[in-house]
Amino acid sequence: MFEALKSQFKKIDGRKITSLFENENRATEFSITSCEILFDYTKTNIDSATQFALLDLLDASNFSEKRADMFSGAKINRTEDRAVLHTALRNLDGRPIQVDGLDIMPEVLATLGAMRTFADAVRSGAYTGQGGAITDVVNIGIGGSDLGPAMATCALSPYHDGPACHFVSNIDGAHISDTLRTLNPETTLVIVASKTFTTVETMTNAKTAFDWMAKTVHEPAAQFAALSTAADKTAAFGISSERVFGFAEWVGGRFSLWGPIGVSLMIAIGPDSFMAFLSGAQTMDQHFLTADPQDNMPVMMALVGIWHNQVCGYNTRAVLPYDQRLSRLPAYLQQLEMESNGKRVTMDGEDVSYGSSPVVWGEPGTNGQHAFYQLIHQGTQIVPCEFLVAAKGHEPDLTHHHTLLLANCLAQSKALMLGRSLSVGRGIVAATGISGPNLDKQANHRVFEGNRPSTTLIYPKLTPQMLGKMIALYEHRVFVEGVVLNINSFDQWGVELGKELANALEPVLRSGKSSQDQDPSTHNLIKFIRAQ
Ligand code: F6P
Repeated sequence: MFEALKSQFKKIDGRKITSLFENENRATEFSITSCEILFDYTKTNIDSATQFALLDLLDASNFSEKRADMFSGAKINRTEDRAVLHTALRNLDGRPIQVDGLDIMPEVLATLGAMRTFADAVRSGAYTGQGGAITDVVNIGIGGSDLGPAMATCALSPYHDGPACHFVSNIDGAHISDTLRTLNPETTLVIVASKTFTTVETMTNAKTAFDWMAKTVHEPAAQFAALSTAADKTAAFGISSERVFGFAEWVGGRFSLWGPIGVSLMIAIGPDSFMAFLSGAQTMDQHFLTADPQDNMPVMMALVGIWHNQVCGYNTRAVLPYDQRLSRLPAYLQQLEMESNGKRVTMDGEDVSYGSSPVVWGEPGTNGQHAFYQLIHQGTQIVPCEFLVAAKGHEPDLTHHHTLLLANCLAQSKALMLGRSLSVGRGIVAATGISGPNLDKQANHRVFEGNRPSTTLIYPKLTPQMLGKMIALYEHRVFVEGVVLNINSFDQWGVELGKELANALEPVLRSGKSSQDQDPSTHNLIKFIRAQ
């Protein structure tokens, strides 16, 4: 499947990225500006021939039909027999979308309206806790019911004008305990976010929060809301239906931020800013639907990723936001990309004969520079880097910080591409007074091979609308990668086995029952735990 591209890669082995700039138009031919974002992939070893070969690969995957299928509600998640319609949650003009012959848009827009009414009530103080207006909101959820709202709430902190939002996800009691300790139960709203309302982490944390609240609040359930597809289970928990915000099975967990799972974000930044967030995503949807493949940002981002991972064999991707408020973006993208495309079989259940998702990881710059960039610059493996930075910050009195931030971001991608030669290294060492045989040895430590690929996304400012565009961009990249790799990006069977085994181990650990029938390694681990 990747033969043409692989032979292309062989041909250019060792070619310097810098040599590609002989093409005077490279800066514009190998970048895309749309939706106020510049996506630059000039600092990769992709030339026109590679670009064509990548677009051919896309063509061969029936991409256009598959994209139309997703947006129109076809059941493209074949292992779960579900449509994939997170885009319907930001279809703000209400264009009809049919699932099983029914237009889903009236319900989507009605739910959005109900979220808005609730968020307004919480923010204005019309909805109160036992002790008065709500001061704190605790979102209890995990995976897609946590990472999206937690990431976006952090990203948009300059827009917060509602109660403080906290996020609890881990089953580790430390998480809920450290969070609740600082809060007043009488002015706290707990939002239980779980598509299935069965996830053990979330249900355990929800019960703990309920018990905490019940110690001082007469009607604890009145200070709970739920975001779920499982109305029967939210009712059984005791949460009144007026505070239950439902969504359909065609919204995947990791794509659910745009609907009810975004309630905590909406409370934090207000319904108007939340609508701007949705409209940003809708703008990116339109771009994705209409731009030609070579000018289509999600498409080209995906193809650049495929070039690096499946063709060149660079199987990790570092996400490096030079934007402190995007500190949770790498974690968010880990779920979005690896839960979606970390698959071992194709759509037809055959073993995949190529790598699937890269390992996605990262930290905000400049922090990462003082930690793992050593490996990125001089380590033995090549890590394609994805830099992100805003042209402007939110702190008018701290523009000198922002200038330094920008300089660092641009310097890193430049350093990765240019590197530093032995002769320059020698000059640096010689200037310190070292000479003789030690000179070359010392100089070699100062050499940077360079020629390491990176891409850069630059956006004017991290506003709600811009964040919406960016997250939709990443979602669509995942989709395109899945289409080209012919895998189902929308199921997650790989999370099941560990859950089942945890369910079986919990009673063993709780009861003190013999663990002899476990595998010897697990038995030994349990023995150690019990000895403590
Ligand atoms: O375990 C994986 C997963 O199913 C994710 O896909 C999902 O986002 C997360 O768990 C949480 O699920 P729920 O919202 O049903 O609690």
